[in-house]
Amino acid sequence: MAQKFLGKTVFITGASAGIGAGLAVEFGREGANVVVAARRREQLATTVARVQETGSQALAAICDVTVPDTLRQAVAEAVQKFGGIDIAIANAGFGVSGLFCELTVDDFRRQFETNFFGVLNTIYAVLPHLKNSHGRIVLMGSVLGRVGLPVCSAYSASKFALNGLAENLYYDLSEEGVKVSWINPGLVQSDFARVDNQGVYHAGREDPRPLWLTMPTAKAAAQMVRAIYRGKTEIVITGHGKLILFLSRHFPNLWRFVLHLRSKGKLKHFKEKRRSQD
Ligand SMILES: NC(=O)c1ccc[n+]([C@@H]2O[C@H](COP(=O)([O-])OP(=O)(O)OC[C@H]3O[C@@H](n4cnc5c(N)ncnc54)[C@H](OP(=O)(O)O)[C@@H]3O)[C@@H](O)[C@H]2O)c1
Repeated sequence: MAQKFLGKTVFITGASAGIGAGLAVEFGREGANVVVAARRREQLATTVARVQETGSQALAAICDVTVPDTLRQAVAEAVQKFGGIDIAIANAGFGVSGLFCELTVDDFRRQFETNFFGVLNTIYAVLPHLKNSHGRIVLMGSVLGRVGLPVCSAYSASKFALNGLAENLYYDLSEEGVKVSWINPGLVQSDFARVDNQGVYHAGREDPRPLWLTMPTAKAAAQMVRAIYRGKTEIVITGHGKLILFLSRHFPNLWRFVLHLRSKGKLKHFKEKRRSQD
């Protein structure tokens, strides 16, 4: 079967692990040149090797999305190697979790620095090249960017901001010939729960999220790439994600009432379900 992205160049932030690495491999399978960007060199090398196994070309570009100069450098390396960028996926992110009363303004700022301003830095760095290619920018949101959940205030606020940005970019960037998609996944297997509130990864940590509910990374990545190929605008991944959004959109009061009943007096338990230690 024909490869869907043959000859296209895809730039993905946060591709050293989890969903970003899964997307890199899937785009590689579909014939794209893949630029994988993140901070950890060794993990990026692993993603590059996995993409190359698919027969496609890959380039590792070290960058920190909170530092615009490093992103501009990563984009320059991508353009030098492949001549342009057709699709950029602003995927890098992590989750600050905890009871609101235990968090501080600094926790919120740190969360927004990566999940919101890191995405803005990415968009501004790739935009000139997407204008040239009449390409597509894809923002990685979350179901929690559409609905609130206990102990997720900082993360949820950052992803709500991202959804708001995406909804507006859809109009503003179409004037520039750049298409916009955003993805709101539910639970997907990744290292997400092994990263602490400071954004530091802990290899030995258990992922306390229920495995039966968590979609395998490769399956989620394949669904995302298919939806991007079809030019979908808002993409929701996982059955439970779709159900939550349906209930919260059409029966908001019932949804809040049920969630409140489930979580009342058990917020510490909810916190442990998100992450085993912090
Ligand atoms: N997994 C889920 O259930 C789920 C659900 C909804 C949404 N999401 C979203 O999906 C995205 C990917 O998360 P994931 O689940 O795949 O988590 P993950 O396995 O922990 O991967 C996160 C990626 O982001 C990168 N990253 C973090 N901070 C960065 C920074 N400052 N600069 C550059 N790269 C940075 C990490 O690379 P380095 O550490 O090497 O820099 C890593 O490659 C996030 O935006 C997350 O919010 C995930």
